[in-house]
Parts: sequence; structure tokens; C-alpha cells
Amino acid sequence: MQTASQKTVLRGSYVTFTGNPFVEDAASCFRHESDGAIILSDGKIESAGNAEIVLAHLSGEYDLHDYRGTDKLIMPGFIDTHVHYPQTQVIGAYGAQLLDWLNKYTFPAEGAFVDKKHADKVAEVFLSELTKAGTTTAAIYCTVHPQSVDAFFEVSEKFGTRMIAGKVCMDRHAPDFLTDTPQSAYDNSKSLIEKWHNKGRNLYAITPRFAPTSTHEQLEALGALRNEFQDVYVQSHLSENMKEIEWVKSLFPERDGYLDIYDHYNLTGAKSIYGHCIHMEDREWASMKERGTIAAFCPTSNLYIGSGLFDLERATIGKEAVPTTIASDVGGGTSLSMLQTMQEGYKIAQMKHFSLSAIRAYYLATRGGAEALGLSDKIGSIETGLEADLIVMDLKSTPLIDFRMENVDSIEDALFVQMIMGDDRAIQATYANGKKIYHK
Ligand code: GUN
Ligand code: ZN
Repeated sequence: MQTASQKTVLRGSYVTFTGNPFVEDAASCFRHESDGAIILSDGKIESAGNAEIVLAHLSGEYDLHDYRGTDKLIMPGFIDTHVHYPQTQVIGAYGAQLLDWLNKYTFPAEGAFVDKKHADKVAEVFLSELTKAGTTTAAIYCTVHPQSVDAFFEVSEKFGTRMIAGKVCMDRHAPDFLTDTPQSAYDNSKSLIEKWHNKGRNLYAITPRFAPTSTHEQLEALGALRNEFQDVYVQSHLSENMKEIEWVKSLFPERDGYLDIYDHYNLTGAKSIYGHCIHMEDREWASMKERGTIAAFCPTSNLYIGSGLFDLERATIGKEAVPTTIASDVGGGTSLSMLQTMQEGYKIAQMKHFSLSAIRAYYLATRGGAEALGLSDKIGSIETGLEADLIVMDLKSTPLIDFRMENVDSIEDALFVQMIMGDDRAIQATYANGKKIYHK
């Protein structure tokens, strides 16, 4: 039985998103409660709103977490839709573009995950850093080793976070120590789905790394698995780098371009997340739109591995818009902070003569991500009944930000300054499933 004393009340200013600012007028897409209270009970948001009204309905004892003051802002936890936890130790590897970067840095680092203890250790570091940066849900690539998935979900359960993750499948063009086969990819992925999918807050993603590292037979086997488990996720990479695209076309000459491979093998549509989508053809955008395939914009990675500039305007505006999300892509990306990710996203949009407003950027990193993933009834907003994944921002986390904030007079401006100047230091506290799991 739930007792009143188990409740937690977060008191302070909060912001949450209520609509899609790429479609509707931004002002009608968010709610800012300057004197707010959020009641957490049993891992969920029991109610939220103006403090006077909300607290009037609350009886009995509760734990008060007081974040009142102009330097704090509560909001939903961030959602990062594409990130590789085994690459935590190769962030910032020097001097290579995609295919060389994979061979030189990524594959050796992933090889070490044959050792479960190593996987345990990296999962722990990764999730500490991720939640310290305010991210409470992410779509995660593990390695080819099933134990890398066990390690990840075991640690995630400890944190109480809602995570999507999957075993990478590769049966060619990778070192022997990182390859599986069509049959073992199918069998191991299936066992992992049965073991982890929808157990607690864990969700599974069938994860062919990208078309060049899977044979036709492996893609076919994974498409069949997807057919058996229609509510699991799929994640992979698409059209990131020009050399990669040429290579893909030479490996699948019978298909009509890169995305058509995934379309053909039943690996697209709702709950299918494709990282990058940079060098896209019109018919590929049209297919994503028609099927509801999700694009993950990975700004720090676009720039760092030098792959190209995602066309955010094309992806999000107008009748041809596709489900679009924002992601770190660590270790190709350079930061787990969604604030830094938004900052680089803003710059990429600027380079393409499109402006990413704060309301749109934070929407992508919270409710927009949840909507694209089909999880908006669970996460991404501060609303009664949703799971209590929240962050408290410190709006004055450095002396310069503090000074800059003196010259801010709206919530939009405050949010914009944070996404341009802030990083993990701007996260005061992180809550997952109603519990405080990080405090600065
Ligand atoms: N394409 C295939 N594998 C990867 C990866 O690990 N990172 C990135 N950025 N692109 C990829
Ligand atoms: Zn990636």
C-alpha cells in the first residue's frame, strides 16, 4: 500500500512541452509554471501545476525537494536516441573519418566487451555520465557480445532509467572477434528480447550495425525476427558519409539506394531509428515519411567525424516532415550533454540557413523524442500519470552564464542561453522513476 509519506514534492519553476513547435505556434507548445509543484508517487507524476493549487490537494507527509529560486528550472529528463556505450573510452579519437575511425578506434574498443567485467565497468561509467548530463532515456548500441547487453540493462536497472538497447549484429567487414552469423545474430537477439524487452523499464532494439556489416542473409534473418516481435525497436545507421554510401551501393546493387535495403528487409517504419540521414535522396525522405521511420540528428558527430550537415529544415518542416529526434552518437559524437548537442545542432542549422529555436530544440530532446519513439504516454513531459524522469537545471552554472543570465528576460531566452553555453554543469539534479539518482 502506498502511504502519503512515500511521496516526494519537487517545488520550483518548471517547463514542459505540450505540442509540436515545428507544426504549431511555439507559444502554444509549452507550459511554464513559475511557481510549480510536482508530486511524485510510486515512480510516477501524481500531479503537477501551480504550487498553491497542487499542494492544497495534498494531505499527509511528504519529502520536500525545494528548488525555488531564479537559478533553478525543472524539466523532463532528456532523451538521446542514438548512442554507443562501448565507445565511452574512445570519445575524441583523433584524425579519421567514418570508415577509418571504425577500424582504427571503434572496433578494437568494442572487442574488449567479450569480457563481461569490462562491460559492467563501462556501463557503470557511461550511465553515471549520461544521467549526470540529464539524460534519462537513450537508444543504445551495445557490442556484438550478448553479455554487453546484459551488463547494460543490469546497470540501467540499478539506476532506474528507461533505456532502449540491443546487441550489435555484424557478419562481415568487421574483425573476426566482432562478427556473428545470420543464425547466431537471430538466436542471440531473440534470447535477449525474451530476457529483457518490457522487463521493468527495459526495451529492446534489434541492431544491425549498418548495411555494409551485414550480409543479405543476416538482414533477412533480422527482418524475420522483427516480424515475430513487432513492438521491439530497430536501430541502425543510414547515409552518414559519402564513401560509406558508395560502398553500400556496390554491396547491394539490386536495391534502389541505401534506405531501400532496410525497407526491403522489414527494418523500417514505426520504432525504427536511423542515425544520421545526412546525404538523403528525395525518394528516401518520402519513404521515411510514408513508413514513419525515425531520423536521429547527431550534430556533434556530423561535425566531429566530418560526415556532413543534417538537413533539419527538410526533416521537420512542412507536409513532408519525418519523425525527427536528436542524439549524441558518442563516441563519434563528442559529448553526452544534450545541451551541447543542441548547441551544435543550432550551428549546423545556421550553416544551412535555418534557425533552431530553444523551444524546438528542447522539444526534440524531450517530448519530441518520446513522441517519435512511441513513448509519449510514459516519458518526455511533466504530466499526471507519466513516469517521473525529471531534471533540475542550474541556470547559473558558471560565472559567465550567471553574468549572461542578468540580461535575460524570458523563459525562451533563458533556455537558449543554457543550450548555447551550458553543459553537464548546468544539471543540478536528475530523477529517474521518481528517485533522485544524481545531485551536483
Ligand atoms: N556507422 C556504423 N557504425 C557506426 C558507429 O559506431 N558510429 C557512427 N557514427 N557511425 C557508424
Ligand atoms: Zn552511431
